[in-house]
Amino acid sequence: MARGIAILGSTGSIGTQTLDVARRHPDKVKVVALAAGRRASEALAQAQEFGVRYIAFGQEPSNVEVPAGVEVAVGAQAVADLVKLPEVDVVVNALVGAAGLRASYETLRAGKVLALANKESLVVGGDLIMPLAAQVDEQRRAAGLAPAHGPAGALMPIDSEHGAIYQCLIGESAREVARLWVTASGGPFRGRSRAELSDITAAQALAHPTWNMGPKITIDSSTLMNKGLEVIEAHHLFSMPYDRISVVVQPQSAIHSMVEFSDGSVKAHLGTTDMRIPIQYALSYPERWDAPVQPLDFTALGSLEFAAPDTDTFRCLALARAAGERGGTLPCAMNAANEVAVAAFLAGEGSYLGIAECVEAVMEAHGVQAVESIDQLLEVDAWARAEARENIR
Ligand SMILES: NC(=O)c1ccc[n+]([C@@H]2O[C@H](COP(=O)([O-])OP(=O)(O)OC[C@H]3O[C@@H](n4cnc5c(N)ncnc54)[C@H](OP(=O)(O)O)[C@@H]3O)[C@@H](O)[C@H]2O)c1
Repeated sequence: MARGIAILGSTGSIGTQTLDVARRHPDKVKVVALAAGRRASEALAQAQEFGVRYIAFGQEPSNVEVPAGVEVAVGAQAVADLVKLPEVDVVVNALVGAAGLRASYETLRAGKVLALANKESLVVGGDLIMPLAAQVDEQRRAAGLAPAHGPAGALMPIDSEHGAIYQCLIGESAREVARLWVTASGGPFRGRSRAELSDITAAQALAHPTWNMGPKITIDSSTLMNKGLEVIEAHHLFSMPYDRISVVVQPQSAIHSMVEFSDGSVKAHLGTTDMRIPIQYALSYPERWDAPVQPLDFTALGSLEFAAPDTDTFRCLALARAAGERGGTLPCAMNAANEVAVAAFLAGEGSYLGIAECVEAVMEAHGVQAVESIDQLLEVDAWARAEARENIR
């Protein structure tokens, strides 16, 4: 029987690619709910194509006609409420930023599978989300919904790096894992000095060499903040201490990440750079369905290069790692500052190098607390956003 999915962020890069996977596998996936922000007419067209009854918008849509049979709700709570619909088995969280936290939390609280693109959820709330995921894993095993061996699949990463590590770890013992290698493309400014980055414009930073993504993650990829967020995400997802998570630049983006074992063996996950592959795996696990793309042609690939990341120039990677290592509410404050600084840069109000400066200033000003609740994290997030607005340069 087809699994019912809710796609939060259906009009974005991950959302539309998830719909493409659903379009190719109508016997396996039934889209039952959609959430979007501003692009209401696109979301309604998606609802018509896939026969979806429930839509939630982050903001009140203007000038749209709601077709018969479609129920529309508005507001952040309406978006998070979609995950509780009885028809929903799996929630694809492809919202952008910390705004995705509540939906991730509510999905697991409702005992549903979370297919997670919204890495900010784990960066901000990993301390709350991972224990919930462990509970849902237990419930799924007890109900016979999870495979007898390997991960129970309550929290499936969509990020290609984490999807790759997830697959490399299957069949392995956690005790024998020595190190996670998270690969990075290096972004469009790889090899440049700090001085060469001082007058970078949003248009230049939006031109990513290997992936076609939404604007916020594209800027994060260029500053290497995205890799920093992914290091924190890997720490939570795989219970790995930070000193055993390394980042390596792999400019061809053919190796999606690697796991090193205690005997010196390394498993790498390779594939075409197309997000529909990790999206589909997050929906198909423990099965594999037919590929939506051409497989990698090794005879045409040429060479694979590797390099250490330049954290003196791309300071966001080091800042995010430091926030993760300190833990508590610091990653929440760091993430909120980054969201504000990136939005200011995209709006032409802040400089490119000012993003790291703003993040560092907010991290220094934050009084770190242990993570206790979603409401506490929302308060820290709001405080950090206000502080960041004072530090836009
Ligand atoms: N793109 C990738 O290749 C990729 C890869 C790995 C991980 N990720 C992660 O996946 C997440 C999504 O990235 P993306 O590139 O798909 O972003 P995106 O293209 O900017 O899409 C974001 C989606 O969220 C919706 N949205 C924004 N604010 C909302 C709100 N308040 N309420 C409801 N919906 C809202 C947007 O709706 P409207 O457009 O209608 O406003 C859009 O559908 C991010 O966390 C990113 O880090 C992305």
